Amino acid sequence: MNKNEAIGIFDSGIGGVTVLKEILKVLPNEKYIYYSDSKNNPYGDKSDEQIHDLCENIVKLFIKEKCKAIVIACNTASAKSVQYLREKYKDIPFIAIEPAYKMVYDYAYNAPTLVMATKGTIESEKFNLLYHKYDNHKTILLPCIGLADIIEEDNKDKIKAYLKEHLEPYRGKVKNVVLGCTHYPLIKEEIKEVLGQVEFFNGAPYLAKHLKEVLKEKDLINDENESKKIQFIDSSNNEQKEKRFFEIIKE
Ligand code: DGL
Repeated sequence: MNKNEAIGIFDSGIGGVTVLKEILKVLPNEKYIYYSDSKNNPYGDKSDEQIHDLCENIVKLFIKEKCKAIVIACNTASAKSVQYLREKYKDIPFIAIEPAYKMVYDYAYNAPTLVMATKGTIESEKFNLLYHKYDNHKTILLPCIGLADIIEEDNKDKIKAYLKEHLEPYRGKVKNVVLGCTHYPLIKEEIKEVLGQVEFFNGAPYLAKHLKEVLKEKDLINDENESKKIQFIDSSNNEQKEKRFFEIIKE
């Protein structure tokens, strides 16, 4: 592995762009290959075995492209498959997102908390270990079935209707909101419209910091400025997604 090789990053769609944006703030000179698996989304309601297989295919592609590290920018894939991938592909570092529930414990323990994530993440063993370790006894776990899909579609009306239906009961009752799916930071404003003033907790800035530490420790940080640095691949070759992805990167 060498410094000039790319970092592979993937999600079930374009949601992981919210993670890449945080990474770009701390590692601006790297090359990135972003893989959006829109052909197989949503990941949120698939079985562990299905997620293992989907992740493995993406990992194989990144290894073929000689990536020096892999970022799992999908909470569901991280929750279900990171351990499996780390055991099977020992030579490449995996950096995986997880819901920022420990951050609530560290910074806002006493406030009522809503954890929004996919069903897969909330039911996973990995998330449950985290949850029971840092439980503040004022937490509501909300599996947001179908929400990542309509964010992926960029359907504003459906998003607003969904949030009104599912979040309205918590208006005024929660202070912290854990954005436990990488698609959700894209709809922070819409969430606030329903819940009112809340504090958001997102694991992406911490992942970015951790990725930098891992690369530094392995002496793999690229110090040369690369000109074409982000390659976007979508498993269903959807050009609209590519367009939206780069628009969000620029915002
Ligand atoms: N963005 C993904 C996550 O962080 C999942 C969305 C999906 O269900 O595909 O969990």
